[in-house]
Amino acid sequence: MKRIAIIGIGAGDPEHVTIQAINALNRVDVFFLLEKGDEKSQLIELRKEVCRRYIAKDRVYRFADATSPDWARDTPDYLATVGDLNRDKQAVFERLFANELKDGECGAFLVWGDPSLYDSTIRIVEAIAQAGAQDIEFEVIAGISSIQALAARCKTTLNSIGGAVAITTGRRLSAGWPEGFENAAVMLDARDAYKSLAGRDVDIHWGAYVGMKEEIVISGKLADVADEIARVRAQARAQHGWIMDSYLLRLNDREKN
Ligand SMILES: C[S@@+](CC[C@H](N)C(=O)[O-])C[C@H]1O[C@@H](n2cnc3c(N)ncnc32)[C@H](O)[C@@H]1O
Repeated sequence: MKRIAIIGIGAGDPEHVTIQAINALNRVDVFFLLEKGDEKSQLIELRKEVCRRYIAKDRVYRFADATSPDWARDTPDYLATVGDLNRDKQAVFERLFANELKDGECGAFLVWGDPSLYDSTIRIVEAIAQAGAQDIEFEVIAGISSIQALAARCKTTLNSIGGAVAITTGRRLSAGWPEGFENAAVMLDARDAYKSLAGRDVDIHWGAYVGMKEEIVISGKLADVADEIARVRAQARAQHGWIMDSYLLRLNDREKN
């Protein structure tokens, strides 16, 4: 039997790491690091920093690197593309488990934010466990998601009183406001989708690199700050070569569905 830990490490601030995650880190023999290429080495370095900071000095562990499969983000059939990507990732994971992890050992993925949100690690590891070709069991440790970190940073809540919040993507927001929700938390926006709400009475809290030294936050009425967000966002992406940003939207009363 091999054990796999899927450990949420928070959204970029090493202090997001929970005590439960620290205890799990100290049971791990091999950390799987998937290189992605662009944002890349900085996020790998942050994972190594988490290990250095929180794993007991006398504990022996190792890293196993692999290259994460590449994919085209702007294809018309997004779900099919992500399906292909996850199939390729599954093959990478299977190789890592077979070649880098010995029987009786524990391997771990250090997942950005919380593993339950817009991350395929749980789905892929579950598929491998169910396929049964490898004898593995896995556990999941929750982490602080980027949208929780953003809400705290902006001293706000995700929902209005008794209201519902949609957690969604830029792609879906571009197709229209999520019906029945007063609030939306938007991730994975490669297209400035908030601009599609121009003319509506909406408050926005936008944050990039939240919890990291590059952090930028802009809050206000969408109509007042949308252009500034677009400008700052483009500038930050050009400066760092990558960006991770999210935003919280609240429809004001007269605009509610
Ligand atoms: C693949 S998803 C992973 C989400 C992650 N599991 C979480 O719980 O935050 C990546 C998206 O998360 C958001 N994100 C992750 N880290 C962030 C950060 N430090 N600041 C702002 N947004 C972040 C961005 O919307 C980014 O496009």
